[in-house]
Amino acid sequence: MQVITTVKEMQALSKKMKAEGRSIGFVPTMGALHEGHMSLVRSSINDNDITIVSIFINPTQFGPNEDFNRYPKDHKGDMKKISALNVEAVFLPGVAEIYPKGFSTFLYVGGIGGVLCGASRPDHFNGVATVVAKLFNAVMPERAYFGQKDFQQTVVIRKLVKEMNFDTDIIVCPIVREPDGLAMSSRNAYLNEEERMSAVILNKALHYGRELMLSGREKQTSSIRAKMDALIKSAPLVTIEYIEIVGPQYLEKMKDVTFPAVICLAIKIGNTRLIDNIIVRSDEQSAVSFQQREKM
Ligand code: PAJ
Repeated sequence: MQVITTVKEMQALSKKMKAEGRSIGFVPTMGALHEGHMSLVRSSINDNDITIVSIFINPTQFGPNEDFNRYPKDHKGDMKKISALNVEAVFLPGVAEIYPKGFSTFLYVGGIGGVLCGASRPDHFNGVATVVAKLFNAVMPERAYFGQKDFQQTVVIRKLVKEMNFDTDIIVCPIVREPDGLAMSSRNAYLNEEERMSAVILNKALHYGRELMLSGREKQTSSIRAKMDALIKSAPLVTIEYIEIVGPQYLEKMKDVTFPAVICLAIKIGNTRLIDNIIVRSDEQSAVSFQQREKM
């Protein structure tokens, strides 16, 4: 497995692979890899001739009072996990390689970049879009893999690719969870024992919201959100940032219960901000997507 630290070398490797007719799958990450990340890597290996994984903690997607300086790092563990799989190269640029002195060209994600997580993290998606565009130009992948865990990010990236004409297919992979339902996240490492116990409320609340939506008894999303709010508040140490029920494509807030929809939430447990979501399809829509899966 090669370790590449410069954009030039990364582009040279990708050009060589393309000239040989090999398809490139790409998994961008910020490291501290867990099973969620590894599921993306496995999907990429499955679909492509070669797979590139990047590890770069991107400073421009963190706000001034966020955890950039203490974001979890596990270089040795990451390398061990990646080298156990059939990954061609790890792209590991330094901050000065991606943002050289005087760097000043940024992408701006209007509209959907300002809702949900973007409401409290105003420059977050501009930073994500900018770095993903730069990584795509370095790796030039046929396909890139993202987790549904960061649902809004997947919508932003799909829009970025479409509107900036990147020739890359975006593949979204399911959320990988701990046995008790907590979505895997590098930030789970911040939780102490008591906080970790409280954190299961995120997934519980999402399933409760989903059941209420499917029950047919609730017509308005506002009453579902209120019930989820009450459930979450019954857990210790939590503060709710948002609970929203939105459309899957444009992230517009839904007033009436309609399908498909995505329930998204962001919650602070102690000082740790966690996000999670669930896509809710009507029973018929679920049946159709199940049949489609069966056919594949
Ligand atoms: P990071 O948080 O490291 O996540 C890298 C990828 O792993 C993202 O696509 C994320 O959605 C996915 N992922 C994280 N937890 C997951 C889980 N439990 N199940 C499935 N997939 C999961 O997201 C980023 O980094 C950055 O914003 C990045 C796209 C790399 C740009 O800097």
